[in-house]
Amino acid sequence: MKSKKNILCIGAGYVGGPSMAMIAYKCPDYRITVVDINSDRIDAWNSEELPIYEPGLDKIVKKTRGRNLFFKKDIENQIKENDIIFVSVHTPTKTYGAGADMAADLQYWEKTARQILKYSRSSKIVIEKSTLPVKTALAMEKILSSAKGKFRFEVLSNPEFMAEGTAISDLENPDRVLIGSHQTKSGLKARAELIKIYSRWILKEKIITSNIWSSELSKLVANAFLAQRVSSINSISALCEKTDADISEVAEAVGMDSRIGNKFLKAGIGFGGSCFKKDILNLVYLCRYYGLKEVASYWENVVKINEYQQERFVANILNGMFGTLAGKKICILGFAFKADTGDTRESPAIYISQKLLAEHAELIISDPKALKNAAADLSGIKGKVKYIEDPYEAASGCHALLILTDWDLYMNLDFRKIYKTMVKPAFIFDGRNIIDHKKCFSIGFNVYPIGKPALSHFKI
Ligand code: NAD
Ligand code: UDX
Repeated sequence: MKSKKNILCIGAGYVGGPSMAMIAYKCPDYRITVVDINSDRIDAWNSEELPIYEPGLDKIVKKTRGRNLFFKKDIENQIKENDIIFVSVHTPTKTYGAGADMAADLQYWEKTARQILKYSRSSKIVIEKSTLPVKTALAMEKILSSAKGKFRFEVLSNPEFMAEGTAISDLENPDRVLIGSHQTKSGLKARAELIKIYSRWILKEKIITSNIWSSELSKLVANAFLAQRVSSINSISALCEKTDADISEVAEAVGMDSRIGNKFLKAGIGFGGSCFKKDILNLVYLCRYYGLKEVASYWENVVKINEYQQERFVANILNGMFGTLAGKKICILGFAFKADTGDTRESPAIYISQKLLAEHAELIISDPKALKNAAADLSGIKGKVKYIEDPYEAASGCHALLILTDWDLYMNLDFRKIYKTMVKPAFIFDGRNIIDHKKCFSIGFNVYPIGKPALSHFKI
């Protein structure tokens, strides 16, 4: 089949890979190429073991790769050959200079803009898929129009709302697709091109349009609202632990109010992942930049409560285990920032592990998909750490189990069998409230959930 259009995506990461695989899957007459400066990543996309674990991804990559989906390293040529370019490079928090630890580090997308300008031999539509501070498109346009050449670059904003672990179903059936454009003739024409692609599989009513700045800002705000719900319920979990209220019961009662809704009300050890913290900090930085001090500090507290929740969890472990962890073996079940992903970026497990190692605990870390990333995250940190995939083997000989990721696997463990192999008194700290606490208590464990009374066999 002859390709109608060529699409390029710059950045073959957690967003670029799955989102382009979905377009290739749904639009067989489009030829999609994904490029990256990281050549190992491109090799992995072309291999049997994809660089990221995402349920359902293997299947669609197998169907499309080599047909109309290609992972390549020749960025220069690909820019020349493609008419529509998605930019999906990372935009982490800046670690240096002005705005360090808060502003988005825009060096990757700026390099991309310069590359597009340098290698283009025709006019193009450039689509921001990365999450960017509001008004970034303006800077991109300034760079792209700086050569005053004969080519036109129309910049669109099309933020990605998929979540890891559910990326494929989110991409296949999104709540909405947002496209921001200039309201000019050429802006609207470019927007129509992009709508044409998405309307192959997404209902027209779900494809919404706006001006570019609203689109850029909506992405930051959506993440801020989601994270705010997690911090809100986590803040109340601290109060529950002081008052014998049960956070699951409170969340159920509150979430049944249809104005509030029941999603994103699961208390735990705090949110992780590459997006929430970075995007809120970015929002805080923008507010400060525009002189909105009160607004900035409102959102900054969402991040502060998240840090507090992780500190509280470690303090509860230390208090529960008689004030010392030195020489004690602690089994960590789950290192990924959430279930169904191998991603450990900003995972609460990193902070918790570091704190436990600082207390001279020995860690045995288990996770079905994230052990390689866990080892990289903890490399160079002083202390004894082992990585064992099998949870039964990992728990054997330990003083405590910590559940840090909500993998289904951990709900169905044989805790009686595990208890027998552990040092007594044995402890469970369930950082995700996913196991049957009463049952584990009856087996003999001292059980410490989040936001619920602890179940302890000690009389004092
Ligand atoms: P990622 O780090 O997994 O991937 C980014 C890729 O871009 C890397 O492989 C990197 O090598 C590549 N890259 C950087 N500069 C390049 C250049 N000049 N040329 C070619 N390749 C280059 O990041 P990600 O998780 O895919 O996130 C990408 C963007 O999407 C971020 O802005 C993020 O906030 C946003 N986002 C992420 C998610 C998510 O779930 N991960 C969801 C929605 C939006
Ligand atoms: C998030 C947004 O959901 C997604 O729309 C955006 O595109 C990227 O950022 P992601 O970070 O992949 O997605 O996962 P998400 O499901 O939002 O979870 C983020 C963190 O919050 C995880 O650590 C998760 O465990 C935690 N969380 C989520 C809770 O602790 N409680 C909840 O009720 C929900």
